[in-house]
Amino acid sequence: MREWLGAMVTSAVVHVDPQTLRFSLPPEHAAFLTRAAAADNIAVFTQYVGLLGGVEDDVVDCFKSGGGVPYERFPRFHALMAEDSGQSVLSALESHILPLLPGLVEHLRRGIRTLDVGCGRGRILVRLAELFPNSSFVGMDLSEDAIEAARNDASRRGMRNLEFVAMDLSDFDERAEPESFDIITTFDAVHDQARPLNVLKGIHRALRRNGVYLMQDIKGSSHVYNNVNHAIGTFLYAVSCMHCMTVSLAQGGEGLGAMWGEEKTREYLDLAGFRSVEKHELAHDIQNNWYVVRKYE
Ligand SMILES: C[S@@+](CC[C@H](N)C(=O)[O-])C[C@H]1O[C@@H](n2cnc3c(N)ncnc32)[C@H](O)[C@@H]1O
Repeated sequence: MREWLGAMVTSAVVHVDPQTLRFSLPPEHAAFLTRAAAADNIAVFTQYVGLLGGVEDDVVDCFKSGGGVPYERFPRFHALMAEDSGQSVLSALESHILPLLPGLVEHLRRGIRTLDVGCGRGRILVRLAELFPNSSFVGMDLSEDAIEAARNDASRRGMRNLEFVAMDLSDFDERAEPESFDIITTFDAVHDQARPLNVLKGIHRALRRNGVYLMQDIKGSSHVYNNVNHAIGTFLYAVSCMHCMTVSLAQGGEGLGAMWGEEKTREYLDLAGFRSVEKHELAHDIQNNWYVVRKYE
């Protein structure tokens, strides 16, 4: 405890009174370190350090021999990701994210079909399905474990208007049911796919004519020289190198990486057939851009 406090004091997180030797955590510091603080809690992100440290040797081997590190080597990933998107998405869902699409809340109240691609443990869909019982929701993800956790969560709450499907979306361009959803979302779930362009083509195919695709994905440029002064560029490239890119490579995938950037995002959306892309930035989420994407101008 003493040594841990030493680290906390010398990093200016905790204060020490030299007279009484009492340690204190100022409330304005606590606000950035506790789960109750919702979007401001930077401690959630620091958990990635331990997660990524666990695969350091595997990643070093990939530098020498090629290939990637598979999801199975990151046992805590989906739990941590659910906490991460709990902050960047759930904490602002009703206040900032749903209002990105004018009229959406009314449509959801009346009843529409929504798909979340790469849904992980499905917390966002569970919240939406609770808020809007007349709408129906589908979540798809590669991970059987994450899908099982999502299903258990939904059944614990007795929910009937959502369904979770475990599937590899690498050929979603061919498998997606045409024009079957009004709203499709991805929350940080395109860049680490094996075949991101096929996923986007599948989303285009599955979206109804007047449907909207809402995409949250990492904020940055596709060109490293533009990211030199990026506030959290080092963190994002490091997470990408040791997770996002490598899990895609392990599936024999493209290995786009988290820092595929806005230019590449727009290029892929165009190749997938989308003709209207509006970018939004939300103050609570320094890590991502929010794209509102439509099939037609
Ligand atoms: C960064 S996580 C985001 C999870 C979730 N959207 C969230 O915000 O919590 C990316 C997700 O993409 C999924 N994924 C990766 N490759 C996939 C593939 N080939 N097919 C389907 N899902 C895949 C992963 O299992 C993971 O849950």
